[in-house]
Amino acid sequence: MNIVVGITGGIAAYKAVNVIRGLVLAGHDVHVVATEAALRFVGRPTLEALSRNTVNTDLYEAVAEVRHVAIGQAAELVVIAPATANTIAKLAAGIADDLLGNTVLATKAPVVIAPAMHTEMWQNPATVANVELLRSRGVHLVGPVSGQLTGRDSGAGRMAEPDVIVAEALAVASGTARLRDLEGVSVLVTAGGTREPLDPVRYIGNRSSGRQGIALAEAARDRGARVTLVAAHVEVPLPSGVEVVRAETAARLLEVVSDVAPRHDVTIMAAAVSDYRPVAVSDAKIKKAATGERLTLELVQNPDILATISAGPRGGRLVVGFAAETAPSRDELLELGRAKIARKGCDYLVVNGVGWTTGFATDGNEVVVLDAAGDIVFEASGSKMSVADGILGVFARARSGAQ
Ligand code: C5P
Repeated sequence: MNIVVGITGGIAAYKAVNVIRGLVLAGHDVHVVATEAALRFVGRPTLEALSRNTVNTDLYEAVAEVRHVAIGQAAELVVIAPATANTIAKLAAGIADDLLGNTVLATKAPVVIAPAMHTEMWQNPATVANVELLRSRGVHLVGPVSGQLTGRDSGAGRMAEPDVIVAEALAVASGTARLRDLEGVSVLVTAGGTREPLDPVRYIGNRSSGRQGIALAEAARDRGARVTLVAAHVEVPLPSGVEVVRAETAARLLEVVSDVAPRHDVTIMAAAVSDYRPVAVSDAKIKKAATGERLTLELVQNPDILATISAGPRGGRLVVGFAAETAPSRDELLELGRAKIARKGCDYLVVNGVGWTTGFATDGNEVVVLDAAGDIVFEASGSKMSVADGILGVFARARSGAQ
């Protein structure tokens, strides 16, 4: 396949060399179009050696070959990694003041971009609007992910890993990714961890970051679903293009989910709901002086939202639960999962192991999906986004089989 790799001027350009290498090793003919700024971060010889082709940067080179349109016309796939905020803005506006802008305007091939920038720039309303516009025109986004940025800071805006970009870009080109198989389907996802207040400043909470739930909401949106995200406490930016309802406590989550789940074809309970809440919530901050050496908290069980919405007639609506367990072995993990799905009465259960360092607040995940009979219907490990896509495939197939 003739693939154009656009490289723009961000520090993540040093990682883009692995995107080129990955595509070349997969047998593709890679043509690099680098902006002037990109060449300040990574040298032309490196790009030429890895791509095995001349690197194009200049709009006014080889004018007789009408190169400013020829490269885009010949491309079967265009991958831009990293895509800076500036490049994203120019693509959204259709600006063609350099070779890459011309190439993108002249191509009919799928365009995949891997944004990379600081969190503030990624969350700036201008970037948010530009990304939304590109997405609506069919541009595919890979990442960004949350993680360490160039400086000491970390957050959303880190470029997706090169192997993920390569895999997703090739999947887009072969038409296997970004399936629109959830067009016309409504999906409700709960995400994050609930916080049960003790007093105005303290709460009982958990380490859920909301990453997997939000990845599910984003993947469902990308596959054409109408998505409602019910977010408890989350540590990652809320996605665009989905309706967001905030629900901090289990009680509020129950209210919201009971209200909106009947209007959704698929409900995915990815939120980590606190099993207990304090019996009494103090209106004033609890003081050491008043409580003394030891403080005993009395807790009461929260209603089980998943079990509640799974019970009763559902008329073909799917309900999916999550089980995060600290089992010592895979067999014991599955055992716990099978007991849980029988107890909860949902259609599918996504089981994953968690521990002090695994499962929560990480970019990757490893899951097994069980059906109501306790049989394994899907297994995956990888980025939370790729795991989300795989999980959604199970429900998409179940729905199309049911129709
Ligand atoms: O029982 P456990 O908390 O392990 O079950 C996890 C699953 O049940 C998740 O899907 C979670 O969203 C859901 N849950 C719930 N209401 C609760 C506790 C958990 O819906 N009170």
